Amino acid sequence: MTDVTVVVGAQFGSEGKGAIAAHLTKSWDDHDLAVRVNGPNAGHTAYDAQGREWKLRAVPVAAVTSNAQLYVAPGSEVDLQVLLDEVTALDLAGFNVSRRLKVHPSATVIEPRHLNAEQADGLVGRIGSTGKGIGAARADRVMRRATTFGEVAQDNPPYATNSYWAKFAAALDPRDFNNVLVEGTQGYGLGLHTSFYPTVTSADCRAIDFLAAVGIHPWQNGTNVRVVVVARVYPIRVAGNSGPLHGETSWEALGLPVERTTVTQKVRRVGEWDESLVEEALAANGHDGGDLVTLALTMLDQKYPEVSDSRELTDEADEFVRELENRLDCYVEFVGTGPATVVER
Ligand code: GTP
Ligand code: MG
Repeated sequence: MTDVTVVVGAQFGSEGKGAIAAHLTKSWDDHDLAVRVNGPNAGHTAYDAQGREWKLRAVPVAAVTSNAQLYVAPGSEVDLQVLLDEVTALDLAGFNVSRRLKVHPSATVIEPRHLNAEQADGLVGRIGSTGKGIGAARADRVMRRATTFGEVAQDNPPYATNSYWAKFAAALDPRDFNNVLVEGTQGYGLGLHTSFYPTVTSADCRAIDFLAAVGIHPWQNGTNVRVVVVARVYPIRVAGNSGPLHGETSWEALGLPVERTTVTQKVRRVGEWDESLVEEALAANGHDGGDLVTLALTMLDQKYPEVSDSRELTDEADEFVRELENRLDCYVEFVGTGPATVVER
């Protein structure tokens, strides 16, 4: 049996999916597979064994936590420069990523014209988009004008020398691995077909969407699929005209250091805990009170500074988690107490 875990966000991204993915893959080896889906508008933060911080936009975080095989799904969008820079940096740091990573030839290539098209459209100002060209690349894909990774890799030595990708011309079979991690990006509330439209991203962000982008069938014999929904204590939205945020407050009011976006360094908007959003995200990911959909509650240290980087929760913090569990009828399997500390319950 292959255990397939899908990590998804419950809010508007930056929930700490990277930290949960890092925790889950810590002891994985080359019989395991870590998959990244979607595009480089998301940066997943993880720490390697030496405590170095990595913010990965193209490669699965298991690259720095394990010897797992690495895969970029066919339904993904690839910025070649971002990918090449990341693989080069990771190789230099000793992670042998170019030997472990496979990119499906059907993945869509993001081209300069996609970044230009989003700029010309004013997408960043209009809906608070990150403007990384992903929406425009997807639009081209839908209109059958996009270039695939397979096409460019053929004529492009840095990618062609990585001979692995070609093996994935056929569909990937998750049952060839002991464990599979599908690292979803962004968050439920950014889903294209949610009530938050149009201040959303250009795809849906549920487990079923990520599984489809990879080509994994939850009903297939031989796989156990489960979902970890990641929610942070104070949800954020990107700066600007990025749409509704329940109980919007400020970092100052919360007594927390300001959080900025990784690439553009703009101050993120922050809101109070929004339980109905998390409830909606759980339902959208198929939660029915069973144990196949669990929660990871991250950044509990922002509410209870005394648990910062701690492997144990205080009574008060634990009580908060247990009450939440009861109200949502959902097992809180993981609690994040710091950027590199996840408590299993
Ligand atoms: P996107 O897919 O880009 O939305 O991001 P993500 O969900 O992977 O979030 P990311 O890994 O970028 O995490 C956001 C920030 O929170 C990073 O700087 C993490 O190091 C940090 N972080 C993650 N978990 C915790 C936690 O439990 N406590 C604290 N204080 N920081 C955390
Ligand atoms: Mg991020």
